[in-house]
Amino acid sequence: MKSFTIKGCAIFVLFTLYLGVWCNGEAEIVAAPMEKTEQEALYSAIQGFVGKWWNGSDLYPDPCGWTPIQGVTCDLFDGFWYVTDLNIGPIHDNSLACAPYSEFRPQLFALKHLKSLSFFNCFVSPHHHPIAIPTENWEVFAGNLESLEFRSNPGLIGEIPSTFGDLKKLQSLVLLENGLTGELPSNIGNLMELRRLVLAGNRFTSQIPVSFGGLSKLLILDLSSNSLSGLLPLTFGGLASLLKLDLSSNQLEEKIPTEIGHLKNLTLMDLSNNKFSGWLTKSLQEMCSLEELVLSNNLIGGDLMSIEWPNLNFLTILDLSNIGLSGEIPESIAELKRLRFLGLNDNNLTGGLSPKLADLPSVSALYLNGNNLTGQLKFSEWFYRKMGRRFGAWDNPNLCYPTGLMSTSHVPYGVRPCQQEVTVNGIDLEKKSKLDNGNLNQNSDFISSLGVSSCYIGGLWNFFLVELLVLVLVLNLNL
Ligand SMILES: *[C@@H]1O[C@H](CO)[C@@H](O)[C@H](O)[C@H]1NC(C)=O
Ligand SMILES: *[C@@H]1O[C@H](CO)[C@@H](O)[C@H](O)[C@H]1NC(C)=O
Ligand SMILES: *[C@@H]1O[C@H](CO)[C@@H](O)[C@H](O)[C@H]1NC(C)=O
Ligand SMILES: *[C@@H]1O[C@H](CO)[C@@H](O)[C@H](O)[C@H]1NC(C)=O
Repeated sequence: MKSFTIKGCAIFVLFTLYLGVWCNGEAEIVAAPMEKTEQEALYSAIQGFVGKWWNGSDLYPDPCGWTPIQGVTCDLFDGFWYVTDLNIGPIHDNSLACAPYSEFRPQLFALKHLKSLSFFNCFVSPHHHPIAIPTENWEVFAGNLESLEFRSNPGLIGEIPSTFGDLKKLQSLVLLENGLTGELPSNIGNLMELRRLVLAGNRFTSQIPVSFGGLSKLLILDLSSNSLSGLLPLTFGGLASLLKLDLSSNQLEEKIPTEIGHLKNLTLMDLSNNKFSGWLTKSLQEMCSLEELVLSNNLIGGDLMSIEWPNLNFLTILDLSNIGLSGEIPESIAELKRLRFLGLNDNNLTGGLSPKLADLPSVSALYLNGNNLTGQLKFSEWFYRKMGRRFGAWDNPNLCYPTGLMSTSHVPYGVRPCQQEVTVNGIDLEKKSKLDNGNLNQNSDFISSLGVSSCYIGGLWNFFLVELLVLVLVLNLNL
């Protein structure tokens, strides 16, 4: 330790308190210094990002001590200050914001004690000033770097350097919403300490490396919103610790591997907006921690009956819309008591609807529209009132709601009222339901569906004429 000259009195008192214990009664007041090389490297690295106007030695003569730089954290090693965290970008009001012509200077790689390095909204001009991540020298951080983040840098282009694979201590690698392209380096799968791997919102292509399946400590894997293609590796069954898996909005295809059932701790799986096919895998029912399962907009196909839904009793969000499902909706889905969102719309589902679905205690959105469901909707008026348009049953041409029980205002949106079976003198006759002011559209749809051109424009008189005509027609047909 070196001696240290102190300018102010307040500082003196603080320092005495701070170091009096530390130095065990040493008479001289001492403080940890910073190596000149470390300090110069810090100033130069930052200046590269924020611009030449920024003169660190003038503005922050003691960057790890009395004149801290926003976004810079230091720690003591063998009595010297070293920079451990460097965050570039406008996170706080007085953070270091980047210049339009920011650059990576080699001095960055002299900060060998860095544990955490992040860039937020720093490289923002993909057209005027695109910049690539340096490919060399990352190995100098191998011993210490635990977190590396590039977030919201549209001007950051090029590929992920394969030298990232040397960062063996890395626990978090976040490359979110940048302009990065190319393949994902397979040696990222060697970073065995990784807990979080987020590569979402770039333009990565090609396949997901098989090696990623070896990241046994991984908790969060987000590769969403890229152009990844090919298969989901079978090795993904090895991601035993995983809590969140988001591969949505890519071009992944073929079967979801049955090994996915090994992910017992997974709470979120989002595979939506891909080209997965090969039917719903039965192993989904083994993922007993799932809270959110989103598979919408794929070509998966299959049958809801093939899955033991009650096994997934933590589910709060189940979105299986537009995935080519056929068959009936199992009543057992009504046992998912925590379900808040159920999306089964835009499939090819058939059969009737169990009124038990209305008993889901937490449900706030239930979409069944765009299927081929049949029969009568037997939910309560209270349910329709509670849900409004968040109960979607429209575009099921063979579905209707019974009218007799219903007051006028709360009926399922876009569903037609049922034709009631009425027996008159032993002859069945179909009688059009009463005029319902809340449902002019449904009524006129009903009329046109009977082959009478829709002439109901607003006049009650016209409606009665049509009504009469319909009755006469129906009577004639039945007799
Ligand atoms: C910062 O300012 C000092 C003194 O004002 C000057 O000697 C030094 O060259 C400047 N450094 C940079 C990088 O501009
Ligand atoms: C799964 O979660 C449980 C409970 O949090 C934990 O004890 C267990 O170690 C986890 N399993 C793995 C493989 O991480
Ligand atoms: C729905 O099923 C019918 C009959 O099996 C079939 O003709 C139709 O193509 C299917 N539609 C979709 C969107 O899968
Ligand atoms: C809907 O189901 C009915 C039978 O319930 C069937 O006759 C009809 O072809 C189906 N429509 C479509 C579009 O699949």
